[in-house]
Amino acid sequence: MAGGLRKGLTNYGDADFSLFLRRAFIKAMGFTDDALDRPIIGITDTFSDFNPCHGNVPDLIEATKRGVMLAGGLPMAFPTISIHESFSHPTSMFLRNLMALDTEEMIRAQPMDAVVLVGGCDKTLPAQLMGAASANIPAIVLPTGPMLVGHYKGEVLGACTDCRRLWARHRAGELDAAAIDEISGRLAPTKGTCMVMGTASTVACMTEALGMTLPTAASIPATHADRVRIAEATGASAVLLAANKITPRQIMTPAAFRNAFTVLQAIGGSTNAVVHFTAVAGRLGISIDLEEFDRLGREVPVLVDLKPSGEHYMEHFHWAGGVPRLLHELSSVIDTSARTVAGTLADAIAAAEHVPGQTVIRTRENPIAVGGGLAVLHGNLAPDGALLKGSAATPRLMQHEGRAVVFDGLEDMADRLDSDALEVAPDDVLVLRNAGPKGAPGMPEAGYIPIPRKLARAGVKDMVRISDARMSGTAFGTIVLHIAPEAAVGGALALVRTGDRIRLDAAGRRIDLLVDDAELARRRAAWQPPAAHAGAERGYLNLFLREVLQANEGCDFAFCRPPA
Ligand code: FES
Repeated sequence: MAGGLRKGLTNYGDADFSLFLRRAFIKAMGFTDDALDRPIIGITDTFSDFNPCHGNVPDLIEATKRGVMLAGGLPMAFPTISIHESFSHPTSMFLRNLMALDTEEMIRAQPMDAVVLVGGCDKTLPAQLMGAASANIPAIVLPTGPMLVGHYKGEVLGACTDCRRLWARHRAGELDAAAIDEISGRLAPTKGTCMVMGTASTVACMTEALGMTLPTAASIPATHADRVRIAEATGASAVLLAANKITPRQIMTPAAFRNAFTVLQAIGGSTNAVVHFTAVAGRLGISIDLEEFDRLGREVPVLVDLKPSGEHYMEHFHWAGGVPRLLHELSSVIDTSARTVAGTLADAIAAAEHVPGQTVIRTRENPIAVGGGLAVLHGNLAPDGALLKGSAATPRLMQHEGRAVVFDGLEDMADRLDSDALEVAPDDVLVLRNAGPKGAPGMPEAGYIPIPRKLARAGVKDMVRISDARMSGTAFGTIVLHIAPEAAVGGALALVRTGDRIRLDAAGRRIDLLVDDAELARRRAAWQPPAAHAGAERGYLNLFLREVLQANEGCDFAFCRPPA
């Protein structure tokens, strides 16, 4: 197959003319024939003034280009969309599949022999992996890297676990407006991704375990010189991948996904990663078995002591040896022969740094928590599954029965949650519905239902909360998420009424509505779907609502899956 500039010619009906025209136009940029005859390495440019998590992308692209050129290739950066968590309405998840489509089609449309995927904020690496899996040309991921920690009055702060913790204290009246304002300037002190084991860090660690980055690429801080150096090395590796024609499909195998999901359990990572990696695997026709994932969780303890499950931050994880050191601890339960962009996982493990006395990455004999981070629940409320992040939950609430207090959607929750008139007690179960993939739409991170203000003021820190929404990977609490099918398509969550009893049995992996089947059948017969979303007649929202799959299938678009 033709490579370099000859790849994927624009269709004018005359291939030689197409190449002539392409060369003529690109020469306008000052390239020589020598440069244009090199292997072309595309580099995604996801810089945006709206995206501080990608604030270092220009520096990383410059270093990646240097690495490509030192290895004999021609680097060509190109833009794709950029998604930041706080600047995406209605929610970044709504845009993930758009970014995956953009990435896939721009890789396919433009002539490149390999691509370097530079990104970091929560939805970016999943979208880029989805796109690269479908485009299937040689690809390597370069995460932007985590921020450094912040400080406030002697306390170490990290986005965004501490954002939520301190905001909860503000809601409870413990921090005044001036204090919370000052804190807002300290939570995210540098460019880069959130520095707790939230979604971005989880996805970066899993991407490294999947074999799609160079070793330690997940954890080097965004602002360190090593981050620039690994960008240069990534550029050079991309040239080698192009020469050897090693494609994502050869790396992202079922064994590689099993390795990545094992790491997810061992880091006590974000629930969101289950949705994202299910979507990436789905692009390759690989189905993720949630039961197998749950079994992994019982077998693999949480070994990494990072917030929100533990105490430390990503920079500490990095200096303790990062993913290679963690893989060393997991050697007996992962497939170390799995191929990576730079060899095998065994090579990465062999080169892992061993740091005497470090306590951030524990041994399996001395874990942070036994029984893994994430549990997959079923039951009559979640026939197609739900997730509970056990490592961020309150142990006494893991077996709990309580009265349901139902919110019909985000607006209803915003209207009533903090009202003094809301009848709610600490033992109740807060239920949020119509916040799933089609319901909200985009399955926002609303599953961290705040503790109602009157209970927060009385000192209540956690309650059982259940929803068809997602939750930020930086959040904590006894929170059941991703209930499938969602309420908006008639899932059992749609049938719950305030006053019903709900039982969470984390040990038995069940979430059940304690209402008899005959009554549920009556309610189902009377159920009406929620009103159509404004603007759903056209455009991307129309496409999204028609095509988005449920959480247990990764929320990808159905038409993006390979034919069965
Ligand atoms: Fe971008 Fe947290 S907001 S990683």
